[in-house]
Amino acid sequence: MDAFIIEGGNQLQGEVSISGAKNAVLGIIPAAVLCACTSKIENVPDIKDVNKMIDILEKLGAEIYKEQDTVIINTEKPISYDVSDYEEETGQMRASYYLLGALLGRYRKAIVPLPGGCNIGDRPIDQHIKGFQALGATVVIEHGQVKMEAPELKGAHIFLDVVSVGATINIMLAAVRADGKTVIENAAKEPHIVDVANFLNLMGANIKGAGTDVIKITGVDEMHGCEYSVIPDQITTGTYMMAAAATEGDVLLKNVIPKHMEAITAKLTEMGAIVKEEDNGIRVIGKRPLKAINVKTMPYPGFPTDLQQPMAVLMTIAEGTSTITESIFESRFKYVDELRRMGANISINGRTASIIGVKNLSATKIRATDLRAGAAMVIAGLIADGETKVTDIVHIDRGYEKLQENMRNIGADIRRVSE
Ligand code: EPU
Repeated sequence: MDAFIIEGGNQLQGEVSISGAKNAVLGIIPAAVLCACTSKIENVPDIKDVNKMIDILEKLGAEIYKEQDTVIINTEKPISYDVSDYEEETGQMRASYYLLGALLGRYRKAIVPLPGGCNIGDRPIDQHIKGFQALGATVVIEHGQVKMEAPELKGAHIFLDVVSVGATINIMLAAVRADGKTVIENAAKEPHIVDVANFLNLMGANIKGAGTDVIKITGVDEMHGCEYSVIPDQITTGTYMMAAAATEGDVLLKNVIPKHMEAITAKLTEMGAIVKEEDNGIRVIGKRPLKAINVKTMPYPGFPTDLQQPMAVLMTIAEGTSTITESIFESRFKYVDELRRMGANISINGRTASIIGVKNLSATKIRATDLRAGAAMVIAGLIADGETKVTDIVHIDRGYEKLQENMRNIGADIRRVSE
């Protein structure tokens, strides 16, 4: 297992170019199997979850070529709709659930193991299943596998009980190949929903309303390959913005979409950081002391749950008492014990963490309990006095491309060691 060793105290300065969005590309790659065709996808981040998804599709029979950040997916020969043999691979990420929608759309059949992913609370897929059933699929879950069959896939009116990124994308993936019109109400509006919809539309799908809470899809008989470039990663951008603010740095983030960052920009500004939109990106200048603020995670355009953990680190050194309420996942506070070991003053009451700012964090050995908690631990290490060791960084590798190299380029003293 690799670990990061971080010598805290350096102010981050320089530029980072942001890679493609993990949670968009993990929907786009499975979408590429919806027809017998070849698609070229650019701005694909080199991260473990993406490489695992490519590996699974290759095992199912797709021909995939990868060069730098471009991935070409050729599914002209039929691929298997049965993923049951690859439980180990699918169990290492959440997004393997998109194989359900994509394979059901193309073959009217799919057998896919239940997904894995970060352990951040109860993560049912009942809304995905409700959507597939509404489209006409019979769904059986046995021996850890979701087995679906739909002799006829027909458009339907689906009202999601909770706003779900995964269910919205998964239903879109199947509905684009259904007969007739599907309406998804209470749909998620995240930038990656729009990105997957744009990719599907370029493949010949007919999706309207992505980015609003009502998505209308008219099924098509034919789809074709396309060329597409994935949007920049909102959460990666936010992570570097917070690292800059926490270290009193001055960092320009390039290849970003400022509109996607508004909730984060607003909160960092409230804390006293300077966030400027420049021609070629977003510049963040950190000013200490940071001011205490209150944050509640919400579906987009609200403050993203995936940045709750990094934000908590900033609050640990902000002047006054901050609160952070997690309204999406009920146990996304596992990392708090690690921050307490660094001297943070945090108490948890239900879904709200109250954080009384301390002068500084003190370096020690801490653990990345999941992907975004891992990013938070890196930021904690950057501001702590002394040498921090972050273990279990395999979680970080799932979702951040070249974190260590990028951080080093802007002045962080961080190195990777193998244990
Ligand atoms: N939910 C249900 N039933 C469902 C689906 C979701 O009750 O069928 C609930 C969940 O338990 C949760 C809420 O609805 O309380 C929202 O879950 P959502 O379905 O939106 O999350 P997800 O699809 O499991 C994706 C991202 C997560 C991100 C969330 C929220 C991917 C692969 N994962 O998860 O990303 O936190 O949306 O934005 O896209 C990460 O990148 O670190 C990460 C965890």
